[in-house]
Amino acid sequence: MIIPYNCTGEITLALVFKLFYSLFLFVGVLFTAPAILGLEHVDDTCKSLLLKGRYNATGHSVADSSSSSVTSDLRIPQVIHHGMIRLVAVVGERHSGTTYLRNLLKANLDPVSHFVRDNFCSFKHFHQVKRDPCPDLNLTLAVVIFRNPYDWAMSMHQQCYCRKTNQEYQAYMENVTFSTFMTRDWIQDVYSELAQPPWRGPLTDPQSGKSYYSHIMQCRAIKIRSQLAIASWAPHVEFVRHEDILHPRDAHRWLSRLIAKYKLLPSKSRTLRPIFLYKGMEQERSFNAGKAMSESVWFNTSLLETNKTVREQVHLVTKMMDQTVEVQELCYGYLMSA
Ligand SMILES: *[C@@H]1O[C@H](CO)[C@@H](O)[C@H](O)[C@H]1NC(C)=O
Ligand SMILES: *[C@@H]1O[C@H](CO)[C@@H](O)[C@H](O)[C@H]1NC(C)=O
Ligand SMILES: *[C@@H]1O[C@H](CO)[C@@H](O)[C@H](O)[C@H]1NC(C)=O
Ligand SMILES: *[C@@H]1O[C@H](CO)[C@@H](O)[C@H](O)[C@H]1NC(C)=O
Ligand SMILES: *[C@@H]1O[C@H](CO)[C@@H](O)[C@H](O)[C@H]1NC(C)=O
Repeated sequence: MIIPYNCTGEITLALVFKLFYSLFLFVGVLFTAPAILGLEHVDDTCKSLLLKGRYNATGHSVADSSSSSVTSDLRIPQVIHHGMIRLVAVVGERHSGTTYLRNLLKANLDPVSHFVRDNFCSFKHFHQVKRDPCPDLNLTLAVVIFRNPYDWAMSMHQQCYCRKTNQEYQAYMENVTFSTFMTRDWIQDVYSELAQPPWRGPLTDPQSGKSYYSHIMQCRAIKIRSQLAIASWAPHVEFVRHEDILHPRDAHRWLSRLIAKYKLLPSKSRTLRPIFLYKGMEQERSFNAGKAMSESVWFNTSLLETNKTVREQVHLVTKMMDQTVEVQELCYGYLMSA
């Protein structure tokens, strides 16, 4: 296949080409998008709150076969007069793609004009409330990322990042099955136990006096509500699904919209820089969107069909999750039938 492009920034284009080449390997092997329910029935308040930050997502992100001019599609619009936003603050639950999103923004926004960080009014994984350490909200764009509850819960079971020390973590997680993990008290979670009202867990630990949640999905639901509520006190908030920016084509679409909407200054590179590596971490990790999607139960439903354990896990997540939040309030209709 010949991909036409004019020769500006060959290196970036070569990388884009390389990534797309590997992604094309997936074309033909179709991902089946899970049934996305509820989207047609979201009420108007919900729509105006959430969909303002959402491009017309398809719910799945397979490179389509009509992409003969991939590289020119990935051109980033150039903005001459940029707006007020100086700080872009990424917010999201663990395993929602915050590191990926931060790197994507960092790589594609002009570093002199926009500082991108993992902190809004608190570190990205905490409940955010308007309080003293908030940056100047008029100059800040908060970007909140959500991920489907299925991949999310399974990732949390792999590594919950929920204890202060490794030792406590080991003690808490040793031999804990998915079902136990999903149903037991969600207590002493480092990113939730300090939640302020009204986001506090409904239960109280008599020993420490700290609040906790009946189970992990209740904690997730309340945190999602707190994240949606940011729009009620911060003037510039965008909501995005992890699923909608994983594929470079989707990432590009979303970023282009974001740049135009907030008059952000893009980086000097004239095309999207997709993320291959997580930099700035103790260990560089490579990132491969195709691989991530093939291992995701949300994208690759054959995992569900061929594996009974996965089916049971999906069933349990559906049962435990707060469907009002996941399907209606989140507007995206995160629901799979197992
Ligand atoms: C989304 O895009 C599809 C095809 O591009 C179009 O048919 C559909 O009406 C769009 N939906 C919304 C809500 O804009
Ligand atoms: C933020 O913008 C609003 C509306 O333009 C203005 O009323 C307010 O004074 C600004 N706040 C700060 C701290 O600049
Ligand atoms: C966890 O499982 C391993 C292997 O079956 C066993 O040796 C160990 O004692 C178990 N630990 C706990 C805390 O049950
Ligand atoms: C879906 O997962 C199965 C099992 O791991 C794998 O063999 C297959 O290649 C995946 N499908 C896609 C489209 O990635
Ligand atoms: C089924 O899924 C579980 C959970 O992801 C995994 O541990 C197991 O290896 C899978 N089984 C097969 C046969 O792929």
